[in-house]
Amino acid sequence: MIYGVAPLFCRPWTLNGIQPRLIESHYEHNYGSAVRRLNAVTAELATLDIASVAPQLLGRLKREQASLLNSTLLHELYFASLGGDGRSVPAPLSAALARDFGSVDRWRQEFMALAESLGGESGWIVLCYVPRDGRLINQCAVEYAQGISGAVPILALDMYEHAYTIEFGANQTAYIAAFMRNILWDAVEARLASALNVAPPLKLEQPEFGDLPSIAPEEVRAMMTSGKRVQLIDTRPRHYTTKANEIASGAVWRDPERISEWITTLSKDEPVVTFCVYGFHIGCQSAIALREAGYDARYMRGGHAAWKAIDGPVDLLKQQA
Ligand SMILES: [Fe+2]
Repeated sequence: MIYGVAPLFCRPWTLNGIQPRLIESHYEHNYGSAVRRLNAVTAELATLDIASVAPQLLGRLKREQASLLNSTLLHELYFASLGGDGRSVPAPLSAALARDFGSVDRWRQEFMALAESLGGESGWIVLCYVPRDGRLINQCAVEYAQGISGAVPILALDMYEHAYTIEFGANQTAYIAAFMRNILWDAVEARLASALNVAPPLKLEQPEFGDLPSIAPEEVRAMMTSGKRVQLIDTRPRHYTTKANEIASGAVWRDPERISEWITTLSKDEPVVTFCVYGFHIGCQSAIALREAGYDARYMRGGHAAWKAIDGPVDLLKQQA
């Protein structure tokens, strides 16, 4: 692929407190150089004989390519972030900022403080939309890297020295303030509107258990911490527990093969949560059997493994006879 330069999005002469020569230099030299080097590295990669190339060379070129592609994309977003009055945040975007940061002012404070936190180092401050979470987040990306996977950047502030020293010297604070005064909020809002159409990553689906009530491990932990009564039943298969040495604190292990023997020992006055190793079949089937018998039962999503992943407390599992 050959990457083409995108035309300059903002009109430099309209900016408030940022001179056209700074934008021109930034666009022509720094952005242009990133695109040219991206094409050079991409062309070099295309000529490689993968079967015989030194792995170190391939690795270096691929890292360089990713860094230059990110530089290209972020610069295009940076120039497209400028050209407004910095004040008029459209209603849908201000509502989203208020939802995810508390208020537009709090978002602004965090965004600017993050830029100041670089303290002379280079990096990018980026406002992103994360489709998986349906949320906006500010991030600091150094070395044109550390992009949040799957996130859609909608506003970018370039904190590399080349973006401000010609005009602001070492005064990053003045540069950050000037950037904020020139944000083109309508364009940011348009990018958010299109980012909202990005589907989140596929989630685990178990259609056969689609209607079965479940509960997240974090909720189970919160119930137990708050002293809420819950009967937590570990129904990992016997062959698995003979190799395991831990059990979620507060849970009792019951053999899923012998559910008819222990089901009557449970109380129908308190909810039951069952779980297996990973949250697939056994825990779900146990919950189904319990519900059919009239218990308020749910299965814990992700099972014992998810409990470990949230660092839920565990006890030593005594081997069953
Ligand atoms: Fe730059």
